[in-house]
Amino acid sequence: MRKGIILAGGRGTRLYPNTVSLSKHLLPVYDKPMIYYSLSTLMLAGIKEILLICNQSDIDLYKKLLGDGSQFGIKIYYAIQHKPNGIAEALIIAETFLDKSSCALILGDNIFYGPSFQKILMDASKDHKNATIFSYSVNNPSEYGVVNLKKNKIQSLEEKPKKPKSNLAITGLYFYPNNVSFLTKQIKPSSRNELEITDLNKKYLKINKLKNIFLGRGFTWLDAGSIDSLFEASLFVKTIESRQGTKICCPEEIAYKKKYISLKKLKQISKNIYSEDYKKYILSIFKDEK
Ligand code: DAU
Repeated sequence: MRKGIILAGGRGTRLYPNTVSLSKHLLPVYDKPMIYYSLSTLMLAGIKEILLICNQSDIDLYKKLLGDGSQFGIKIYYAIQHKPNGIAEALIIAETFLDKSSCALILGDNIFYGPSFQKILMDASKDHKNATIFSYSVNNPSEYGVVNLKKNKIQSLEEKPKKPKSNLAITGLYFYPNNVSFLTKQIKPSSRNELEITDLNKKYLKINKLKNIFLGRGFTWLDAGSIDSLFEASLFVKTIESRQGTKICCPEEIAYKKKYISLKKLKQISKNIYSEDYKKYILSIFKDEK
């Protein structure tokens, strides 16, 4: 079974002063904490065992919010990243947890929303031999990892290139086979002294084991790492939710629809929700069922 890792450490410097006393991934994106979005993505991928990696100072807050995951019918474990030594370090921290399983790593500030996303994830998850990255067209590729394709074949990967070869950003969601911790230990820190996720992906490219899934125009990918992108992400979620009357990345709903929890459990959960709006939504999920 593929396991999941959410990376929710880092300093959140671009969100100062919001992040002086609070982890970035606990800040709200409209109506729910940022971490709910990455958690929901892993749940949609069918992943039921998740390691949340955060800073030492934040661990109790995450535990208070998410507990052991049983309310969502999953298991959540916790680990600490002592310093922001790079995204790839998550795969070394997670080595014991992974215990040679394949995995999906997601950055806690990434938000995905789009048609058939669940199917895209479930299909990608079946491939335990290759690593998979997900790319998305942006107008500021220099701010991301960038993938260059020729006839759908990956030619090169670059981390925050000054002159990007394409406008395809590599999103913060990565699927890896069971040798990932081993391969990560072979990469060296970059000039900014971080274990770069792009360097790890280059390793898979070199051995011809890296696949790219392009998320097209109808898809939304946001990262909420700066003041503007956080605000825009909130606005996006509000716009869609108000228009459609459905919630984006509501883990209780996903848990129920994926049969991770029973109707009885969902009803029980709804009794302990104090927000009228959130409660109304949870009640609406099962209003037609007995
Ligand atoms: O969002 C996608 C991009 O994420 C990719 O396109 C890039 O290739 C990748 O390097 C990364 O770029 P960012 O500039 O967004 O990385 P940032 O340092 O902002 O960290 C992203 C998230 O990971 C953020 O939520 C904090 C967390 N993080 C980061 C580092 C470096 C950690 O928890 N620990 C870390 O050591």
